[in-house]
Amino acid sequence: MSSRQAIRRLDYTPPSYLIDRVDLTFELSDTHAKVISRLIIKRNKGVSSDTPLVLHGEELTLEGIKLDGAPLTSAHYVVDETSLTIANMPDDGILEIVTRLLPAENTSLMGLYQSNGNFFTQCEAEGFRKITYYLDRPDVMAKFTTTIIADKTKFPVLLSNGNRVGSGTMDKNRHWVKWVDPFKKPAYLFALVAGKLVVLAGTHTTPSKRNINIEIYVEPGNLDKCHHALAAAQKAMAWDEERFGLEYDLDTYMIVAVSDFNMGAMENKGLNIFNTKFVLAKPDTATDVDFDGIDSVVAHEYFHNWTGNRVTCRDWFQLSLKEGLTVYRDQEFSSDIGSRAVQRISNVRALRETQFAEDAGPQAHPIRPDEYLEINNFYTWTIYEKGSEVVRMYATLLGIDGFRAGMELYFKRHDGQAVTCDDFRAAMADANGVDLSQFERWYSQAGTPVLRASAQYNEAAHTYTLTITQSCAPTPGQAEKLPFHLPFAIGLIDRRGHDLPLQLLGESVAGDTTRVLDIRDTTQTFTFINVPCPPVPSLLRDFSAPVVLEYDYSDDELVFLMANDSDAFARWEAANTFALQLLKNQYAAAGRGEKVAAPAAFIAAYKKLLSSDKLDPALVALMLELPRENYLLEQLSDVDPVRLFEVCRSIKHQIARELRQELLAVYQHLNDGTPYAYDGEQVARRSLKNICLDYLAELDEPMIAQLLAKQYQRADNMTDRLAALKALVNRDGGEAQLADFAAQWQSDALVMDKWFALQATSRRPGALSRVQQLLEHPGFSIKNPNKVRSLITAFCLANPPHFHAADGYGYAFAADHIIELDKINPQIAARLASAFNRWTKVDAGRRELMQQELERIRGTEGLSSDTFEIVTKALG
Ligand code: TRP
Ligand code: ZN
Repeated sequence: MSSRQAIRRLDYTPPSYLIDRVDLTFELSDTHAKVISRLIIKRNKGVSSDTPLVLHGEELTLEGIKLDGAPLTSAHYVVDETSLTIANMPDDGILEIVTRLLPAENTSLMGLYQSNGNFFTQCEAEGFRKITYYLDRPDVMAKFTTTIIADKTKFPVLLSNGNRVGSGTMDKNRHWVKWVDPFKKPAYLFALVAGKLVVLAGTHTTPSKRNINIEIYVEPGNLDKCHHALAAAQKAMAWDEERFGLEYDLDTYMIVAVSDFNMGAMENKGLNIFNTKFVLAKPDTATDVDFDGIDSVVAHEYFHNWTGNRVTCRDWFQLSLKEGLTVYRDQEFSSDIGSRAVQRISNVRALRETQFAEDAGPQAHPIRPDEYLEINNFYTWTIYEKGSEVVRMYATLLGIDGFRAGMELYFKRHDGQAVTCDDFRAAMADANGVDLSQFERWYSQAGTPVLRASAQYNEAAHTYTLTITQSCAPTPGQAEKLPFHLPFAIGLIDRRGHDLPLQLLGESVAGDTTRVLDIRDTTQTFTFINVPCPPVPSLLRDFSAPVVLEYDYSDDELVFLMANDSDAFARWEAANTFALQLLKNQYAAAGRGEKVAAPAAFIAAYKKLLSSDKLDPALVALMLELPRENYLLEQLSDVDPVRLFEVCRSIKHQIARELRQELLAVYQHLNDGTPYAYDGEQVARRSLKNICLDYLAELDEPMIAQLLAKQYQRADNMTDRLAALKALVNRDGGEAQLADFAAQWQSDALVMDKWFALQATSRRPGALSRVQQLLEHPGFSIKNPNKVRSLITAFCLANPPHFHAADGYGYAFAADHIIELDKINPQIAARLASAFNRWTKVDAGRRELMQQELERIRGTEGLSSDTFEIVTKALG
C-alpha cells in the first residue's frame, strides 16, 4: 500500500537526475522474470552534488546493483517499499540493477503480468516501477534498448518498442530478440510482449513514400477477427496525414490484443497493447457499436504517437494535454469516416451521462487537477471527454485552419519534449495572434457552467435581443468561479423553418446563418437586426461548449425545432429536451400519486419522426431514444430510482401502444432481409429498426413474441441477434434464447461478456440473484476486468432500479465486491466504487444505506490508495 500523501501540481520540480539511455534484458521463465537494467545517468544542470539519487520501485526483489562496474553494498544505498536511494552519486555514471519479479502472481495488471500464459506489460501511469528501479516520471525521457530471452516453444513471439535489430538461439530451448527504440521516451511508454501469438499484417504507404508495416498480434484462432482493426489502422494513418500532416515515424506499427486489461488500450511507442474488445470482431460476434468502438480506439492509440509520445506530458497533472487532445482527434476521425451528426450526438450524450455527473459530484476536478492521492483515479471522464470538449472549443473559436496552425506551432516548438497544458494553449494563441488568457479557466475550474438565455423580439424595430448569463456552481475546494471564455453557436429560424442570415447591431451586412458568439462575461447581450418576424432560436448549435443551457422553450417550439432545425445536434437536442421535461414532470406527478401519461403533442412528435422519409434513419433512432435513468437522476433530487424507472417504463409502454402501427411499419420496412454489411447506410437502418423493436417489445402480444424470437433466430449478425435477445430478456426473461446463446458462444470470451451484461442490466425482478448465480458460472472470473465490468460493474452502474433496490442489497453487493476486488486489482475496485458517488442524490432511506456501505469500505484494513481516495471523497 502506498502512502496517503497527496501529490500537488504546484510542488512540481524538475528531476535532479536524467537518464540518457536504458538497456534492458528480460529473462522470462514460467515461475519468474529477471530484469537486468543498465542506466546511463547524469545529474541535472544546477543540481548540487550532495543531492541523492532516488529511484522509484515497488514490489521488487533487488538481486544486485553496480555503479560503474563496481558492486554496491547495502552501505551505499537504502531500499524501502517505494524507492531505492543512493546518497553519493557522481555527476554521471552507469548503474546496473538486477531485479526479480513474479508476473504470474501480478493480478493488478500493472507492470509485467501474465494473461493466458503470455507476458504483457502496462506501464502507464506508474507501472514501470514494478519492473525495475527507475526515474518513473514522464519528464525523464531516455532511449531504450530491450533484449528478451525466453523459451522458444512457449514464447515464439518476443516484442518491444521500436525496431527489431537482432535475434538468435541460446542454450537449451531458449531464444532471444533485441529491440532498439530510436526515439527517447518516458518509461510509461515502455512495452514488452512475449507469447504464443499469430499475426495479421498489412501495409500503408505515407505521402513521403515510406512503407509502414502494420502488424496485429492475437492468440491463435483469432486471425479472422482482425481485419476491421487493420483497416482502422490504415484509415487512421491516412487521416492524420491528410488532416494534420502527421506521418508515422517507425517502420512497423504493432498492435497486440490481450484479454486481461484494465482499460481500453495503451499507446506504447510502436507497440500498442489493446484490450481484445477493441481488436477482435467479425459480424457474427460483434455489434455495429463494437465495430465503431474499434475504429475509435485504434485511431486514438495511433494518434497518441504524435499527441502523447512525440510530445508528452511534463507531469501527470497535464494528462488531459495528451488525452483530451487525442480524444478530440479520434472523434474528428470518426466524424470524417462516418456520420458527423451521429458522432457528435453520441459523444454529447455520453459526456452528459458520465462527465456532467462527475463534475456535479464529490470527485469533481478541473481537466488539469491540482492534487491526487492515486494518479490511476484520474483517468476520468473529465480528463478525457471534457478535455476533448475544451480542445474542440479552440477549433470552434479559431476555425479549423487556425486550429491546424496552432497544432503545427505546438509540434514545431515541442517535438521531443515533455510539456504542459499551458504550452498547448500558448501555441494556439501565438499561432493565431489571439489572447487566450481567460480560456485558462477551463483548465483550473471544475464544474459545468450553466448558461441561462433569454430573448426579446422588438416588433417595431425588427430586432431580436439575446441575453446570456453564465454561472458555475461550487465544487469541492472551489467555492467561487470566475466567468469562462466560450464559443456559443446560434441560429435564428423563421416561421417557415428557414435559417435567417444573422446581422448584429453595428454590422453593415448580414453574415452566415450560424454565428459563434464570443462569451466572456457573466452577462452579455447580443442584438440582431433586420429580423423580420419573431424567430425560434436554435441555441448551442453543435454543442459548441460543454455547458448546461437553460432556455424556456415551449413544447410547440421544441416540436418546431425537431422538424426544422438545420443543425443536426440542435434538432436532436430539441427531442431530447422535450423528452427530458416530460419525464421530469411525470416523475413529479407519480410522486403526487397521479397517473403517468405523455401528452398527445409528444406522441404526435414521435409519430412524425417515424413517418419522416427525409431524415437519416440513424438520427431518427437517436431522437426516439428516451434519456437514460442515470441522466435523469442528475436532474432531480431525493430520488426514488425505482419510481423513476417505473415512470420511464410506463411512458415507453404508452409510446409502444399508441404508435404500434407506425413502429411495426418502420420495423418491417427496414427488416427487408438484405444480407448483412457493415456500412453507414446499413448501420443507420439497423439502429432505427432495433429501436422500433425495443419499443414493440413492451407489448404483451403473441405476435410480438414471435417477431422477437424470429429476429433472434434468423439474424445473420450480432447487432440484430443481441438486440432481439436484450428485448427478450427484459420482456419475459428470454430463458430459452439465453441458454441457446451461451451454448453457441461459451468459448468466445467477448461474446460471453455481452451475455453476462444483458443479464446484469435486466430490469426484470430477480436481477441481483441472477448476477450472484452468474458469479459461479465457469465463464466468469473475478480476475478478468472485462468479466467484472460486464457482470458486476454493469449491474452497479447501469441497472439503477436494481442497484438502488430499497432493501439495500444492491449496495451491500457492490461494497462486498469492491472490498474483494481491492485486494486483486485496486484500479478496477476504485472504478466500481464510483457507483456510490451520487449517494446524496437519492432519497433519505437509500442515502443512509449507501453511506453505511461507504463507511464499511473505508474501514476495511489494508485498503488501496485507489479505493481509499474515491471512497473518502464520496463521503465528503
Ligand atoms: N493512455 C491510455 C489511453 O488513453 C490509457 C490507459 C491504458 C491506462 N491502460 C491504462 C491508464 C492503465 C492507466 C492505467 O489510451
Ligand atoms: Zn489516450
